[in-house]
Amino acid sequence: MRKIFFLTVILSGSSVNSTVNKEWFESFPINTKVPSIEIIGVLPKGGNVITFVKDQFNTIYLVKQYKEFDWDKKYLLMVMERLVSHMAQEMGYPYNKVRIIPANINFPGKPQKHLPATLHKVVPGVPVKQLSIGSRFASVNLKQHRPKSKISGLREENIVHLWKHPDLPIIAGFDTFVSDRDRGKSNLIFCEIKNRFYAIDLERSFNSSCSLAFFTLKNLRNMRRPFSKKELRGLQVYKKIIEQLIKTFPPERTIRLFDKFCKEVAPGKLFKNDLIQVRIREYKKVILKSYEDSKQLVKLLLAI
Ligand SMILES: Nc1ncnc2c1ncn2[C@@H]1O[C@H](COP(=O)(O)OP(=O)(O)O)[C@@H](O)[C@H]1O
Ligand SMILES: [Mg+2]
Repeated sequence: MRKIFFLTVILSGSSVNSTVNKEWFESFPINTKVPSIEIIGVLPKGGNVITFVKDQFNTIYLVKQYKEFDWDKKYLLMVMERLVSHMAQEMGYPYNKVRIIPANINFPGKPQKHLPATLHKVVPGVPVKQLSIGSRFASVNLKQHRPKSKISGLREENIVHLWKHPDLPIIAGFDTFVSDRDRGKSNLIFCEIKNRFYAIDLERSFNSSCSLAFFTLKNLRNMRRPFSKKELRGLQVYKKIIEQLIKTFPPERTIRLFDKFCKEVAPGKLFKNDLIQVRIREYKKVILKSYEDSKQLVKLLLAI
């Protein structure tokens, strides 16, 4: 992470508010007094502008805003980032904490004021992609979707890693439940000091008509070899996580949260846009489908 900070250093700030609460981020952007925020670096890559900032208590966050913003395509990705982060935090899983900086709100590190952005608490560690080849976790692969070969769902190449660290079956189980197809090695961070994994970049959740649980079911049914004891241990935790999620997030509840966060990203704005309305309905269908497929998956996992 340190590498990033010397790239571009710009200083900025908002007025210091002495009554500001150290936990301001938790309730942001609602009823929040924002502390003094300083820009400490910009990550110059990809389709996003990623700006690292710190508050007056020295906690580090990043602001993520799309360079090319198109409401039809990007709006619901931001809603997903917020929704899925919320669900994971409620469960106590090691996922990125995300808040929305709504459209028309100024925030240091948010270049386009009239558009929304997301504010993320920075997690410690380095992406698995950057771990040195000899490192014990360099080969960990939790990505449940390979677009080029059209392979989806949890499968053998993921299952062989689940037992290697207690965080891995938790992340794999949650990703399956929310159908997150983007847990590549850049979006999985390992912190050697804390010995924890963290999942970041949650926007590709619930956004394909076939759920990851559906594909996982298929893959497990087609497995050609028995699981080892270690693999079975990993799969037991994976199953437990999906069971917990089924109990906590029935689709009606997830959909209520989804509606709430749609409004948070663009209060009162887009509900006349037909294309977005169609997309919202598609996401809701996937939430329902993913839930039903997850229930089937748990049944199958109980039998292995
Ligand atoms: N919460 C975070 N903590 C630490 N680094 C982060 C965090 N979120 C993003 N990053 C860094 O920014 C990069 C891009 O962010 P990401 O959310 O993955 O967006 P993209 O859609 O561009 O892949 C990540 O690969 C990582 O290096
Ligand atoms: Mg990413």
